Amino acid sequence: MSGKITFTMIKPDAVEANNIGPILSMINKAGFKIQAMKYMQLSKEQAGKFYEVHKDRPFYGELTQYMSNGPIVAAVLSKDDAVADYRKLIGATDPSKAEEGTIRKTFATSIAANAVHGSDSDENAQIEANFFFSQLERL
Ligand code: RTP
Ligand code: MG
Repeated sequence: MSGKITFTMIKPDAVEANNIGPILSMINKAGFKIQAMKYMQLSKEQAGKFYEVHKDRPFYGELTQYMSNGPIVAAVLSKDDAVADYRKLIGATDPSKAEEGTIRKTFATSIAANAVHGSDSDENAQIEANFFFSQLERL
């Protein structure tokens, strides 16, 4: 059974560039409903915990620095096949390889500053949603 939810962040570069509104509009137009949402800034430690799977990768320090550098929008999105459909909507990690019409092709400026995060599995969607939101904050 395909999952109903995914987790996303609008990353600091996209928030700084005033692209919260246009990105949420693309998310809604693609058929996702918002189940929970918050505007906040991560500490370097929190960003490090969120991206812990990448802790041995060469870009981990740069990634956690960048993700804690400014405010983000965190949200839980619901739709049938949420994880796969949202990965399609955001496009490839490297925006130069992302398809036309995807969020990253439209708004990302580099592989590091790539506008949005999207969960890569149903299991991680649950873990990430629970990392940011209590039960009370999710509809
Ligand atoms: P995300 O987790 O943020 O949705 O991105 P993703 O699945 O498309 O890519 P992932 O491999 O999980 O990498 C997480 C984030 O690390 C940064 N990154 N930098 N400098 C680099 O080579 C590099 N590679 C990855 C990106 O911000 C990527 O989104
Ligand atoms: Mg990832």
